[in-house]
Amino acid sequence: MTRATPKSFHVKSFGCQMNVYDGTRMTELLAAQGLTEAGQDEADLVVLNTCHIREKATEKVYSDIGRIVKHSVEARGVRPMIAVAGCVAQAEGSEIPLRSKAVDIVVGPQAYHRLPALVADAATGVAALDTDMPTASKFGALPARRVTGASAFLTVQEGCDKFCTYCVVPYTRGAEVSRPWAQVMDEARALVEGGAREITLLGQNVNAWEGEDEAGRTRGLDGLIRALDRLPGLARIRYTTSHPCDMSEALIGAHGDVETLMPFLHLPVQSGSDRILKMMNRSHDSASYLRLIDRVRQARPDIAISGDFIVGFPGETESDFAATLALVETVGHAQAFSFKYSPRPGTPAADMDEQIPADVMEARLQRLQALLNSQQHAFNRATVGRHTRILIEREGRRPGQKLGKTPWLQSAHLATEAPIGSLIDVTIASAGPNSVAVEKI
Ligand code: 5AD
Ligand code: SF4
Repeated sequence: MTRATPKSFHVKSFGCQMNVYDGTRMTELLAAQGLTEAGQDEADLVVLNTCHIREKATEKVYSDIGRIVKHSVEARGVRPMIAVAGCVAQAEGSEIPLRSKAVDIVVGPQAYHRLPALVADAATGVAALDTDMPTASKFGALPARRVTGASAFLTVQEGCDKFCTYCVVPYTRGAEVSRPWAQVMDEARALVEGGAREITLLGQNVNAWEGEDEAGRTRGLDGLIRALDRLPGLARIRYTTSHPCDMSEALIGAHGDVETLMPFLHLPVQSGSDRILKMMNRSHDSASYLRLIDRVRQARPDIAISGDFIVGFPGETESDFAATLALVETVGHAQAFSFKYSPRPGTPAADMDEQIPADVMEARLQRLQALLNSQQHAFNRATVGRHTRILIEREGRRPGQKLGKTPWLQSAHLATEAPIGSLIDVTIASAGPNSVAVEKI
């Protein structure tokens, strides 16, 4: 069936920050083709940039498609063109249009530079599916970066070779690939020219990034950070997400002496039980993780530690779970994400014995989250009295108010006329569970 060529589009991203980045690049690509951005119910083309990491995220795609089509038909009497992008597209491929007839295009995370061609195919009624993982990178085929907000994402590394036994990422995003030095530096310059004061370097294992600098020397993420530190106009550098085994001494050292590198480290540990970590194929144990945190804190004593946790991995006993709580108590996390284990098709853990009942997982998640929340509050309280700076990122909830972030990634509202992108000297006056109150110095 032929379809009208879309004139407007809407991109909706789910899941991780790398998907947010890809969603931005798709937006830039479609805008460069002359399509205009529109609301979800008004757009001729809706791109769902999907997440496959847990079952719930995957199922959401299908319920969303039904709702989007229904709303569009009710609002305008037309069915939009639907593209499924991201990790569900990669994992489920040609099964998607079979499961949902409303889907016109399926495009994987390494192929979205071909979106305009796929839209043209779909308009002429040709099956539009591309889940290739080409060796030539998509990045060369994407338009230059546009104006950004105060804080921008920059993907520097994709894919994962770690094969944790619960995780689909090595299958959906492929092997670890680092973007070349010059490409990253060029994009960073474009982002700063477009208004970014902060750049967060992204990768599934961003601390495994490696490349050759202008002089042909092999550099790690620390080298890239040191080069970005010299970029005029760039005030803050962050990176996420990291694997404990790729945390080099040089990167730890950079936390000690690179002023623009923010004192925040997202370092997932997943569990505090060595038995479970082994079954997860994490290649580290709880003691090596704690030693690593000590070394990072020696380099940067005020650093905020963040992490990811999974409860209810197959075979997890009450004492394994107690080991996770004990590890959290020891570290004192400033922030964390915690999830119930979700068996994913094709991963080794999905076939393991002793899957944990849903009610046990739920109870453990509640206990872990209560502890993590209290630690986050304690971390925020410990920062009260500090003189620091916030980066104004967007308008606040109330008129005249703006939302800023401290170096430790705490949210802070401030009544100010200062434009987005300003850095303002403040004192942290008081702490809540999820944010801090600040006063202008
Ligand atoms: N079930 C639950 N959580 C998972 N994660 C990855 N795979 C799964 C899964 N199958 C979590 C990990 C990872 C984060 C991005 O998602 O904690 O660090
Ligand atoms: Fe998944 Fe493990 Fe790779 Fe992280 S390190 S993306 S959890 S396989």
